[in-house]
Amino acid sequence: MFDTDKYTKGLIDFYINFFNKYRYVGNILEIGVLNGGFLDWLLARNQFKKIIGIDIEKPKRDLSDFTFIKCNQRDADGLRKIAEEHGPFDVIIDDGSHNGNETVNCFNTLWGYTRGVYFIEDWDVAHLWPGIPGPGDMITTISNIIQQIPSLEAKEMMTFYKKVADAGEKENPGKYLMSVFYLIKNYPQGSI
Ligand SMILES: C[S@@+](CC[C@H](N)C(=O)[O-])C[C@H]1O[C@@H](n2cnc3c(N)ncnc32)[C@H](O)[C@@H]1O
Repeated sequence: MFDTDKYTKGLIDFYINFFNKYRYVGNILEIGVLNGGFLDWLLARNQFKKIIGIDIEKPKRDLSDFTFIKCNQRDADGLRKIAEEHGPFDVIIDDGSHNGNETVNCFNTLWGYTRGVYFIEDWDVAHLWPGIPGPGDMITTISNIIQQIPSLEAKEMMTFYKKVADAGEKENPGKYLMSVFYLIKNYPQGSI
């Protein structure tokens, strides 16, 4: 087990299925790394040539196997600078603030630097904290992106919502939800 909450939310199984089907092999950017547990999981998977993480806080651990950059996802200039240096990215996963404005700012800035697929995790925060500015805007954010799809030249869009029965939370089963949205710009070579 790696130190990532993607187990409790069922997202590890989701990504195993996704990356077994779509074998992107280039570089992957995770926004919001916390303790870096998902970066470790990606490294152990041995699929990607380069693993990049950004966060407002630098994890207190050895990150020599990764490229870590301190950046706020609301900082469009900072994101652009990172993308110019390290992009384009085959895969981007936004597991950062889950704030609607920041999520859409980050998507608008980085979609042009996305070669393969862009994920936005945990849009169900809109249900967990309804009416709270920021997280409460996540459904609007996702639907605004969906409305733009024809002009985004995306090949596939999917959004999942699933109750994760007893994952990690034995005393409160069903507490956790898996919610993730993705937009594929290009399939990995040879997958379709
Ligand atoms: C849910 S945790 C990430 C968990 C991690 N992806 C994992 O799988 O273990 C969210 C992370 O986003 C970071 N974060 C919050 N707001 C951010 C922002 N505006 N820009 C970048 N990172 C942010 C937090 O510091 C935190 O480490």
